[in-house]
Amino acid sequence: ELKEDTVVVVLGASGDLAKKKTFPALFGLYRNAYLPKDVKIIGYARTKMDHEEFLKRVKSYIKTPTKDIEQSLEQFCKMCTYVSGQYDKDESFNELEKHMQEIEKGQKETNRIFYMALPPSVFIPVSEHLKRCCYPKSGIARIIIEKPFGKDLGSSRELDRALRPNWTEDEIFRIDHYLGKEMVKNILILRFGNEFFGATWNRNHIDNVQITFKEPFGTEGRGGYFDEFGIIRDVMQNHLLQVLTLLAMERPISFSAEDIRDEKVRVLRGMPSIEPKNVIIGQYEKSLDGTKPGYKEDDTVPKESRCPTFASMVLYIKNERWDGVPFILKAGKALNEQKTEVRIQYKDVTSGIFKDIPRNELVMRVQPNESVYIKMNSKLPGLSMQTVVTELDLTYRRRFSDLKIPEANFVRDDELDASWRMFTPLLHYLDDNKEIIPMGYPYGSRGPAVLDDFTASYGYKFSDAS
Ligand code: BG6
Repeated sequence: ELKEDTVVVVLGASGDLAKKKTFPALFGLYRNAYLPKDVKIIGYARTKMDHEEFLKRVKSYIKTPTKDIEQSLEQFCKMCTYVSGQYDKDESFNELEKHMQEIEKGQKETNRIFYMALPPSVFIPVSEHLKRCCYPKSGIARIIIEKPFGKDLGSSRELDRALRPNWTEDEIFRIDHYLGKEMVKNILILRFGNEFFGATWNRNHIDNVQITFKEPFGTEGRGGYFDEFGIIRDVMQNHLLQVLTLLAMERPISFSAEDIRDEKVRVLRGMPSIEPKNVIIGQYEKSLDGTKPGYKEDDTVPKESRCPTFASMVLYIKNERWDGVPFILKAGKALNEQKTEVRIQYKDVTSGIFKDIPRNELVMRVQPNESVYIKMNSKLPGLSMQTVVTELDLTYRRRFSDLKIPEANFVRDDELDASWRMFTPLLHYLDDNKEIIPMGYPYGSRGPAVLDDFTASYGYKFSDAS
């Protein structure tokens, strides 16, 4: 929760992240009264522009479908100002300091939050300049960073070492915006607040767990960043792994952030590094109808790129609860639809009276259209004893009329370390072995052709009803 008398500085205020996530999220918090009234927001970036131009940009980042939202946006803009400056010069940060002091005149405290919507190459110099020139004399200071937190275990630790002389762990917030998604937070309540899930949440009843992330668009101009990282670093090592740890962890002592993180780290420590034999990778090609370009046709992507835009991999947890249960992660760009979901597939019911009836599944649809549903066998109404798959369906939009969904949450340093440890051998193996070429799949398809055989080989059984 933000204290009163807080200044939020968004560094990189003219970039893609600020446009797509940071400003819309700040505005969402403002609209839902989660921001103290006297909060001030300062945009900082290299682009030279005046205050009016900056506000015009902020307004263009945010959709205003109603008059009411348009008016709130006007009010929100009154809290925003802009400073342009470099990321590597004390003079620039001294300017920022001066601007903050102006704004903070008359305040009891000076609480400052620095949100780094910046490319990783400038994280370290900016964090040093901020400490030197802009650290508040009283009140709290926080520095918020977004992934990529390095590219592997070594570079992640290097980043951490570089931040440490200036910022304590309490001051550093590593954001993972998936942790703020409503359905991701709901995992804990579903699991620990319902006896019937709690009792079956283990290797005796669950056959496999699938976590799927699909996007219907390619890199579209973001290829420069993406090509250096690839889909595994972009969404799997962070967002999907975070979802996995919430699904797999033991019951925390409380819902406090620290207690939850303690349990998450324990799960990660019980996970061996991912074996290349449990991984497939793909890269999208031109769509079948020829209208959408292949990954390598993006001008920002090197022509010989081996970067995966799709991956599916199986992870295991070596503990009493999960030993032997495959956690199947799937993620890809330029696929047939937008969908993030968790699918828990239960084991087959004992045979005998039934022949091959579908398995129970618990599905948590993270986005779009949040919902939780259970696929359940029922008797087809009528004289026979025929079974039919039915759904117990909780669709949020139908059940909750007023959805207020803020987005954000944070990852602790030891969690980050443990997750990189698990992914690093695989990432190095893929980077170093030039003969490993991702499998092609058409833009707009479900992914590489081998995908269904791959998931089936780990026990997943496809049944018609989604
Ligand atoms: C970001 C990735 O972290 O998450 C993007 O860098 C991805 O590649 C995005 O598109 C997805 O976020 P959301 O909230 O739109 O699902």
